[in-house]
Amino acid sequence: MSDFVSQNKRTRLNGEYRVDHVDAQVTVYGWVQSYRDHGGVIFIDLRDRSGIVQLRFEPWVGDGAAHAVADKLRPEWVIGVRGKVISRGENINAKIPTGEVEVLIDVIEVLSESPTPPFEIKDDLDTSEALRLKYRYLDLRRASLSKNFQLRSQVNRETRNYFADHGFLEIETPILANSTPEGARDYLVPSRVHPGSFYALPQSPQQFKQLLMMGGMDRYMQICRCFRDEDLRSDRQPEFTQLDLEMSFVSVADVRELLDGYVAGIWKSALDVVVPSPIPAITYTEAMDKYGCDKPDLRFGLPLTDLTTTLRGRVEFRIFKGALDAGGIVKALYIPDGKVFTRKDLDKVLPDEAAVYGAKGVAWARVQPAGVWSGPVAKGVDDALRAEVNAQLGAEEGGLILFSADTPAVVNAALARLRGLAAERSGLIAANSWAFVWVTDFPMFEYDEGAGRFQAMHHPFTSPRSEDMALLRTNPAAVKAQAYDLVVNGVELGGGSIRIHRPDVQDLVFRTLGLAAEEVQEKFGFFLEALSHGTPPHGGIALGLDRLLMLLCGAESLRDVIAFPKTQRATDLLTRSPNPVSALQLRDLSIRTAVDD
Ligand code: AMO
Ligand code: AMP
Repeated sequence: MSDFVSQNKRTRLNGEYRVDHVDAQVTVYGWVQSYRDHGGVIFIDLRDRSGIVQLRFEPWVGDGAAHAVADKLRPEWVIGVRGKVISRGENINAKIPTGEVEVLIDVIEVLSESPTPPFEIKDDLDTSEALRLKYRYLDLRRASLSKNFQLRSQVNRETRNYFADHGFLEIETPILANSTPEGARDYLVPSRVHPGSFYALPQSPQQFKQLLMMGGMDRYMQICRCFRDEDLRSDRQPEFTQLDLEMSFVSVADVRELLDGYVAGIWKSALDVVVPSPIPAITYTEAMDKYGCDKPDLRFGLPLTDLTTTLRGRVEFRIFKGALDAGGIVKALYIPDGKVFTRKDLDKVLPDEAAVYGAKGVAWARVQPAGVWSGPVAKGVDDALRAEVNAQLGAEEGGLILFSADTPAVVNAALARLRGLAAERSGLIAANSWAFVWVTDFPMFEYDEGAGRFQAMHHPFTSPRSEDMALLRTNPAAVKAQAYDLVVNGVELGGGSIRIHRPDVQDLVFRTLGLAAEEVQEKFGFFLEALSHGTPPHGGIALGLDRLLMLLCGAESLRDVIAFPKTQRATDLLTRSPNPVSALQLRDLSIRTAVDD
C-alpha cells in the first residue's frame, strides 16, 4: 500500500467547502455515501463528520485511471482523493452547505473497503434500534447522531469554562469507591486482595464532594460517570454522566443563581434560546397540588383542582363518596377543548393509562349548555354543587372534566399522566418551547410503607430547613429540606441541596432513616468523624448531562446522546457485555457463582 495519507495532508473537512475555495488544489478524505453515473461522469458524495462534498470523476481527466477506480467504489469504502475545487455552475444543490462546489478528481486511493452495511447510513432510517446498537460504529456515522456528539463536546467545553470562570476546581473522585446511598442498587467490584470484600461503583460522588469541601477546596466541579443498577427507562441509563458540583459558604439562592447563569449560557449557545433569568421556582407542595407531580411540564397550563373540600359530605356519586369516606381525595383536570378525548378514550384509553398508577377508573363529565353535565358523575351531583364545581374549575360549555378519587398518591400520579396526554392531544405543546422551573422545599423524608420506615427523599446528607430542625425529633414527616430540583419541560434535569454540616444532625438523620447506631458507625463513621473536624456549611447540585443533551438535541432517548449506550436490559449489544468470565478469573477473586452450582 502506498503512503497516501502521510504524503497528503487533508486540506479541510468535507462539509466546509465553499465557493471561496474554487480553483484550490485540495486533498479530501472520507466515506463513500453514494455513487451516480451521469453519462460517463461519476459523482461520489464523500462524507465525514462535518458533512458531504461532491467529487467529480471525468473519464478524460489524466489517463482516466481515477475514473476507473471510482467506477468500482461501493458505499462505506474509505478513500483519499486529490483534485481541484470547481464551481457547480447551474447545478447547485441548495440542500447541502457545500452544494455550490464540487471537487474534480485526478488522483484517488482506496484506503479501506467495506461489505454492504447492514443498514444504509442515512438519517431517516427504518431499522431496529438493536441492529443500530450492534453496529454502533456505523450508526455513529449518520449525520443526525454525529451532530449530537459534536454538540456534547461543545457543551462539555462550555461547562468547564463557565465553572472555571466562577472559581471552581475540577477534581476527580474515585470510581472504585464505597457505597453511596442515592437510592439505587450498587454495582459491585470484587477485590482480589481482600477476598469477600467489594468496592461499589459510585452512584454519585456525593460523599467525596462533601469531603472536598471539608478539605478546604471551596468550589469543586467534575464531569463524572455515575453507576446505578436500577430499572431502566428512556431517560435512565445504568452508567450516566453528571455535571457534579459543590460549594462552600452558600445558600440555596447562591446555587440557583449560579445554575441559572449556566443553563442560560448553554441554551443560548446551543439553541439561541433565551432562558428566563432568574428561572422561576415553585415549592414541591404547590407542584403536587397544581400538577400532581414534582417535575411538572410547564409548557402548558391545565392545572389540577382539588375538589375534596367542595365535595365532602355533599356528593352522592358513589365512587367519590367512597374515596372521601375512606380518607382519600378527589381532584379534577379541566380540559377546555373537551373534543380532544372521544367516548372511546374516556371508556378505555384514559382508564388504562391511569391504571398504570393504581387508579381504579377515570370518571368524567362533559359540560353542556348552561353548565349542565353529561356522563357518569352527572346524576350524583346536584345543581348547586355542580354550579360550584363549574365555578371552581372555570368550566364552560364544550369542556371536559376528568376526575380521580383515591389516595393522594394515586390521584396525583394518574391525573398528572392524563394532564400530559390532554396537552399532547390539544396541541398545547409548541415546537421549540421551553419551560424551566426550580422545584423547592421538598419533604426531607417519605414514608416507605413496604419497608415500614422513612426514606430520604433526596439523600441522607441533605439539610432540613433551619426552621424545621426541631421537627426532626418530633415529626420527621413534616420536615422540609433545603433541597431543589431543576426541571425542564417535565424532565428532572438536576437535583441538589444544602448539606448537613453538623455531625449530631447527620447522626440524627441516619437514625431517623432507621439505621442502628452500629450500622451508622460501620457505614458512615468516617464521614461523621470528618464532619466533626471543622466543616464549612456547603451545598451543591448535580445535573444529568445526558439528559441535558437529550433535551438540547430533541432526542427521544438518552441512547441518542451516549456514544455506547446500554439497552433496556443493561447490555451492550456491540461488545456483548456483560459476559461470563473464566473460572480462573473467578478463583482469583474468591468468587463462586450460583450459576456454577
Ligand atoms: P440525583 O440522584 O438527583 O442527585 O441525580 C442528579 C441527576 O442525575 C441524573 N440521573 C440520571 N441520568 C441518567 N440515568 C440515570 N440512571 C440517572 N439517575 C440520575 C438526573 C438527576 O437529576 N448526589 C446528588 C446530587 C447532589 O445532591 O448534589 C445526586 O446524585 O438528571
Ligand atoms: P358508574 O358507571 O356509575 O359505575 O361510574 C363509574 C365511573 O367512575 C367510570 O367512569 C369509572 O372509570 C370511574 N371510576 C371508577 N373508580 C374511580 C376512581 N377511583 N376515581 C375516579 N373515577 C373512577
